Amino acid sequence: MKKTLTALLLATALIASAQSFVNLTPRPKSAVVNDGQLTLPPRLTVAYGSLPDSISREAARFVSDLNAATGLQAEAHSTGDGLIRLRHVADCAAEGYRLQVTTQGILVEATTTSGFFYAFQSLKKILPANVMARRYDAGKCYTLPCITVQDEPRFAYRGFMLDVSRHFFPVSELKRMIDLMAAYKMNYFHWHLTDDQGWRAEIEEYPRLTTVGATAPNCRVVDMQRGTYWTDRPYGPYFYTKTEMREVVEYCAQRHITVIPEVDMPGHFVAALAAYPEYSCDPANPPSVWTKGGVSREVLNVANPRAVAFAKHILGELCDIFPGPYFHIGGDECPTDAWKQNADCQRLVESEGLPNFRTLQSRFIEDMTTYLAERGKRTILWNESITAQGADLERVGRNRPIIFCWHPCQRAARMAAEQGLLNVVTEFHTNAGSYYINRKQSTAPGEPDGAGQGDDTVERCYNYVPVPTDVPEALQPFYWGVQATFWCEWVATADYLEYLALPRLMAVAEAGWTQQADKDFQDFRRRMSLDRELLDLGGYNYGKHIF
Ligand code: ACM
Repeated sequence: MKKTLTALLLATALIASAQSFVNLTPRPKSAVVNDGQLTLPPRLTVAYGSLPDSISREAARFVSDLNAATGLQAEAHSTGDGLIRLRHVADCAAEGYRLQVTTQGILVEATTTSGFFYAFQSLKKILPANVMARRYDAGKCYTLPCITVQDEPRFAYRGFMLDVSRHFFPVSELKRMIDLMAAYKMNYFHWHLTDDQGWRAEIEEYPRLTTVGATAPNCRVVDMQRGTYWTDRPYGPYFYTKTEMREVVEYCAQRHITVIPEVDMPGHFVAALAAYPEYSCDPANPPSVWTKGGVSREVLNVANPRAVAFAKHILGELCDIFPGPYFHIGGDECPTDAWKQNADCQRLVESEGLPNFRTLQSRFIEDMTTYLAERGKRTILWNESITAQGADLERVGRNRPIIFCWHPCQRAARMAAEQGLLNVVTEFHTNAGSYYINRKQSTAPGEPDGAGQGDDTVERCYNYVPVPTDVPEALQPFYWGVQATFWCEWVATADYLEYLALPRLMAVAEAGWTQQADKDFQDFRRRMSLDRELLDLGGYNYGKHIF
C-alpha cells in the first residue's frame, strides 16, 4: 500500500513537472503552463495599436521571422484586433515582459522596446525550433502551450567576447554567433579587435595597421579532423573594413545587442608597434607581429606624446564607427620592463615624481578615459588596471571606468565595487568554474589541442556563482553582469570555435538572465538536449559532452 502511494505521488509529481516544463533558455523568472494549447492559423494578425515605431518594427520583424520559417501569412497591423496583441504597460523592468498564451490568443506586454523584443524571442523559442532557426518548414503544426510568462533579466550586462586577433573570423561567422547571443538574450558583443598577433580594424590615418599589422608570419591551426599544424606561410592581411564593422553594429542593433569595441593598450599592442615601430620603446629594434601566445614585453611608449596621439587617433576613428556608449581599451598584462629601459619614460617618472613605473599606465589610462569621455564614451578596462601592484586607483577611477574581472576575478570584482566602480564577472579559471569558454571542456582522449587542462566543463561553467553570497548588499548593485569570453590562440576555425563555445555560451547567458535561486544544471541539460535541434538546424558544431 505504502509502495503504491509512493508510486502514485511520484507519478503525480512527474506529471506536474512535465506540465510546468517549458523549453525556454534562459530560464524565465516565472512560467506557468496551463491547460490547453493554441495552434497558429494560416492567417493571423499581430496588432500593435498606437505603439511607437520602434515597437511596431519589433512586431514586423517577428512577423517576418515567423512567416519565413512557417509559411504562415502573419501581418503586423496598428488597427483591429489581432490573435497576437501588444500592450504597453508601465510596470515591467527595463528588458522585462509578460506573455499570456491562451486558446484565444496571445497578449504581449512590456514597458520598453527591448522588453517587446525579448517577448518575441521567447515566443519564437517556445515554438518549434525551426522558427528561431529561421528555417522553412511548412509541414509542421505551429502550436504553443497555454502559458503565462513573467520575465526580466537578473543582470543588465550579459556579454560575449570574441578575440579575432589571434585568429580572424569573417563577418558571416560573427553573425552566426550573434544569432545565438540574441536567441539566448545576451545583449553586449565585446569585440576584441587588436592584440599582439594581429590588428583587425581599418584605421584610415594609419594604413600599415591593416597591412603589416594584420599579417602574422606564420599560423598555428588546430584542425578538428587533421590535428594541429603550422601553415608555414604568412597569415593575413585579415581585417574588417569600416563598412564591415558598421554592418556588424547594425546586425547587432537589430537584435538589441550593443557592440563594445576593444583596442587593447598599452600592452598587447605588438601588432600596432610592428606597423609603426616609432611608437614603441625601442624603435631601433622593431618587433614583428607575434605568432606565439603569452605576454610580450614590447608595449606602447606612453611617455612619447606622438605615441599617445597615435593611440588617441585610433580610438577617435573607431568612436565614429561604434555608436554604443562604451569603449574597451584593455589594460591587461602590461609589463613595465620596456618603460624602465626607455629614456622618455625614465624622464617622465622623474619629472612628475611618480612612485613607480606602473603609474605610467595609470596616468595613460586617465588620459585615455578623459579623451573617450569627451567623445561621450565610458571606458572599460581589464582588472589589472586596478589590481596590478602599484596601480594608482585615483587616476584610473577618475572617469568611472567599468572593470572587467578575469584574474583574480572575484577579488578584482569586490575591489572594483568597493571603489564604487561597476564590474563584470568573466572568471578565467577556478575549480568552481570558468567563463573563459575557449578553454578545453573535457579531459577525454582525442580532444583537440587547446587552452587549459580540460577541467573547465559545461557543468562547472554553469554552476559558477558570479556574485558570492558574502558580497554585502550595498556592493551588489556594482555587479553589472557576466560575460562569456573566448580567446583564439588555439582556435583558427569556425567548427572548433563553435565546439568550444556551445553550449557554454548558453550557460553564461543563463547566469546573466536567470535568478541564482532558479538555476538548476539538470534542468539546463534537459533544455540544451532539446536545443540540439536548434543548433543542428543552424549547422552549428557543439560540444556533446553533457548529452
Ligand atoms: C585576459 O585574459 N588577458 C584579459
